[in-house]
Amino acid sequence: MIIAIDGPAAAGKGTLARRIAAALGLPYLDTGLLYRAVGRRVLDAGGDPADPVAAKAAAESLTAADLARGDLRDGAASKAASQVASIPAVRAALLGFQRHFGDVHGAVLDGRDIGTIIFPDADIKLFVTASLEARAGRRFAELRAKGDDVSLAAVCDDLAARDDADAKRAAAPLVAAADAILFDTTAMDADAAFARALALIKAKLG
Ligand code: DC
Repeated sequence: MIIAIDGPAAAGKGTLARRIAAALGLPYLDTGLLYRAVGRRVLDAGGDPADPVAAKAAAESLTAADLARGDLRDGAASKAASQVASIPAVRAALLGFQRHFGDVHGAVLDGRDIGTIIFPDADIKLFVTASLEARAGRRFAELRAKGDDVSLAAVCDDLAARDDADAKRAAAPLVAAADAILFDTTAMDADAAFARALALIKAKLG
């Protein structure tokens, strides 16, 4: 069984996907982490994440250790991830790993193109959204809790810029699959979103 969970940054996809995977006994893959690790590798080598040659080489040589790094969620890695994610050769290099991950035992995967490109025949597709204000507020609280001295306005600008880039790129843009269930979490906390999503999934699977 494949459950595809797509949507914009900070919509709550990761938390939701992880909990759904645990509830259904399926492996979980955060595909954004792949793009973050590629971006981080390019930055470490002193390269430009917008350079297709450097980004493709980083994507083709990604290791498990790259995905286990603790610095994949900071602002620099987020920006670099969005930049490398717009390069078709990077997406091509990461495609096989994602498909293989799901094909072995089934999986819950979250990202931007899981229901459109990676698993167009997924059993369940959720497109998780929330208003920009709600998403920025959640990400701001998360960063502050980690001791990051960011402002709400900066977080909001950063999310808006990334969503814009992710939605407008030519390669696998952020878009809901035609057969995705639209799931707006603006007025839900994480527990309510999980309960509702699980009910939707169970209803769809009969
Ligand atoms: O989900 P995230 O914020 O960790 O993703 C980081 C970046 O990677 C985001 O700007 C979009 C990109 N991404 C993508 O293009 N395709 C995916 N399947 C997952 C993430």
